[in-house]
Amino acid sequence: MTAGPAGAPAATGTAHAKAILFGEHSVVYGSPAVAIPLTALNASAHLSAGADGLRIDCDLYSGDAADAPARLLPLVAAVSSACARTGIDPQRIALQLTSSIPYERGLGSSAAVAVAVARGIAALTGTVLDADAVHAVAMDAERIAHGRSSGLDGRTVASEAPIRFQNGVVTPVEVSGSFEFVLADSGHAGSTAEAVGSVRAGMEESPSRVGGLLESLGLLAEASLARLAAGDVAGLGAQMSEAHTCLAELGVSDDSLERLVSAATAGGAAGAKLTGGGRGGCVLALARSAAHAADLAETLRAAGAARTWQTTVEAG
Ligand code: MEV
Repeated sequence: MTAGPAGAPAATGTAHAKAILFGEHSVVYGSPAVAIPLTALNASAHLSAGADGLRIDCDLYSGDAADAPARLLPLVAAVSSACARTGIDPQRIALQLTSSIPYERGLGSSAAVAVAVARGIAALTGTVLDADAVHAVAMDAERIAHGRSSGLDGRTVASEAPIRFQNGVVTPVEVSGSFEFVLADSGHAGSTAEAVGSVRAGMEESPSRVGGLLESLGLLAEASLARLAAGDVAGLGAQMSEAHTCLAELGVSDDSLERLVSAATAGGAAGAKLTGGGRGGCVLALARSAAHAADLAETLRAAGAARTWQTTVEAG
């Protein structure tokens, strides 16, 4: 804890973005998923003791939480949940939020904000919130942001290393060698809630077709663990492209994502797929080397990516 402007207690909590390598959507139905932290993109929640009423300051809104726009409701839920778990009155805190994680791009922005808030409020109150309690705060926010959530985002934004996730259980992932990824933002917002809802509707209409696709996605997630452990870039890339084909058949891709996946493939990527809920959001491409990653990022921007980021996954 530090001191605020007038010597009042203040504290900051942070969390980072995430990218799903395998298993988006199928993870909601109990299949395994593999996800990686994106530590270059961060959310930071600065908490201080406030006057009456919960005050929020962020790029979308400055003012009393009671008048905040609907898209900030997950944030308000995170504050209430963290306050309830630490015994502080939410009406007596001020929250300043800064984030470099783009909203609605499948990069875990809402989960990262919730985890940052939970960590910040824990620090402000001198309370120890263990990983499960921080995750419970993220789930309270995610329920409002996305409806039914697997919990994968909340766990990945709080993890410094890649994780395997299934039915709420997190296990570490063994990695050999190094995997150079490029993320490309389609520039289009994606609604995870809508995408998850469309898959659920598909499940009701054609359970065997949609169930088969979800099963394939789960099997690819499980099989990817051996490729990661072996440092097999070509093998992992092929699995990513296969997963993208399943996701497109599931109906969660769109023209902008298809364009970026095709550009990555034409640019020599080992593999490429949409990442996150889809229907907008980002594409994750696997480069063949660090030098190739820089070229691939340029190729993806030339193909219309609004922005790109590079990240390396390697033996920890
Ligand atoms: C969203 O980042 C990932 C989805 O699988 C939803 C979830 O896991 O709750 C689409």
